[in-house]
Amino acid sequence: MTVYVPRDSAARSVGADDVADRIAVAATAAGRPIRLVRNGSRGMLWLEPLIEVVTPEGRIAYGPVRPDDVEGLVAAGMLDGAEHGLRLGRTEDIAWLRDQTRVTFARVGVIDPLSTDDYLAHGGLKGLRRALELSPAGVVAEVTASGLRGRGGAGFPTGVKWSTVLGAEADLKFVCCNADEGDSGTFADRMLIEGDPFTIIEGMAIAAYAVGACEGYIYIRSEYPDAVATVRSAIEIAYAHGWLGKRILGSDLSFDLFVRVGAGAYICGEETSMLESLEGKRGMVRAKPPVPALHGLFGKPTVVNNALSLASVPMILADGAAAFASHGVARSRGTQVFQLAGNVARGGIVETGFGITLGELVERFGGGTRSGRPVRAVQVGGPLGAYLPTSRFDLPMDYEAFAAAGAMLGHGGVVILDDTVDMARQARFAMEFCAAESCGKCTPCRVGAVRGVEVIDRIVAGVNRSENLVVLEDLCDLMTKGSLCAMGGLTPMPVRSALQHFPDDFAPCQTVAVM
Ligand code: NAI
Ligand code: SF4
Repeated sequence: MTVYVPRDSAARSVGADDVADRIAVAATAAGRPIRLVRNGSRGMLWLEPLIEVVTPEGRIAYGPVRPDDVEGLVAAGMLDGAEHGLRLGRTEDIAWLRDQTRVTFARVGVIDPLSTDDYLAHGGLKGLRRALELSPAGVVAEVTASGLRGRGGAGFPTGVKWSTVLGAEADLKFVCCNADEGDSGTFADRMLIEGDPFTIIEGMAIAAYAVGACEGYIYIRSEYPDAVATVRSAIEIAYAHGWLGKRILGSDLSFDLFVRVGAGAYICGEETSMLESLEGKRGMVRAKPPVPALHGLFGKPTVVNNALSLASVPMILADGAAAFASHGVARSRGTQVFQLAGNVARGGIVETGFGITLGELVERFGGGTRSGRPVRAVQVGGPLGAYLPTSRFDLPMDYEAFAAAGAMLGHGGVVILDDTVDMARQARFAMEFCAAESCGKCTPCRVGAVRGVEVIDRIVAGVNRSENLVVLEDLCDLMTKGSLCAMGGLTPMPVRSALQHFPDDFAPCQTVAVM
């Protein structure tokens, strides 16, 4: 008898550990010994802790289960999949999950994250084995043909990046996984690492083989202690099984992998700041060019990819580029792991092909707001992303369509806000956030963000309103064009979108003090 209780930190934050303990005690008391597996989360966060019981019918889900529910559930026959008010039926039949296309997240929630047997039984290492049969250039060609673009936010073609590193002459090359995931409303990197860490390791080993690197780093934020612990354990296990280290799987590939934990600066998610931080320095942005692909960690050619990009690679190699490219639309190929957050009824992970509309994500999957009030705005792509009104729910989730609408997909975060939101405050927050998180290297961002807060305050207070609206537009223009990196360069996006779609919120009121 196997029972799954997630070890994911979102599930733990709502009592999964207590639930697991109570199930073990109740099962023993009932004379029903069980095998308790701590899996990753299925991503249906409003149902956590979601427990699953293996039955002849398949895995039967119950949720959300509170510790005090456990005794009653066991008494009602949960261990045999019996009916109960919390019974959700077969996990794979839950419409929210069934209607997704899980590729990158295919194993998350399904397997024991640190079981090599589970990993292999669910297709693990197939991608690496196939890669090792190809030449490095052949692997790069496969990734290029898949159309995979960087999932960190910029959407740069991964194959082109790898090809640059492969072509660079150097005595040493590196592969770095960016798991700093600083965007508000995003949690996919964390859930992937906690739920299926071997996928990242496999993706990095494939990248190392493709470009000729022998050393890699996973840069992960300190706010993710469970993910840090999980990936460290996974690396230890991978070494013990010959999946890392010398002559991996008996091939000529040697690859060592290390974990480095950030210290909480948003800007360290920007790739050049991350490299500075990895080198032991303060996280300051480097001017580009040269790109890290040519001059990266310790000045050596370096692949810097987001965790989700690297996690997409094993499947591309295992199933072929065409299988991956069969998902998505136009130049946005494959699947994207959207993260529904904020004031949302059904938050969590929605992995689906690009091209689904924003409205489908928010309404069909998200179920509208948790407060039950009407949706007023949705911010897509993190704190630097645009605020979109419901009239733009027709927008397909694809890089180019979003760019044409003055927005961006970013790392796939979708934050929902109801009709009580004050969009002038949200615009002010964008500038405040930038002022707090700026690395300080360039003036448009360091000074511009502080001035931006002041100007928005004046507009809302009705002080020289029309003049200050012009100043704000001018400031946004300067930050967009003059900032050294995306931090200052993109901060105007939420500000401008709030002004464009919600101008009434910038009408004078008495609530914000004039600075
Ligand atoms: P970018 O457009 O400068 O570069 C994208 C990637 O392509 C980089 O890795 C760059 O080194 C690489 N690249 C560019 N030209 C290349 C070439 N010729 N050969 C090889 N590689 C090349 O964008 P950037 O500044 O790296 O990222 C900005 C994006 O980051 C934003 O669009 C935003 O969506 C996202 N972002 C993500 C956050 C997160 O938490 N994941 C937080 C903040 C922003
Ligand atoms: Fe630093 Fe901001 Fe300039 Fe980026 S835009 S380099 S974060 S000061």
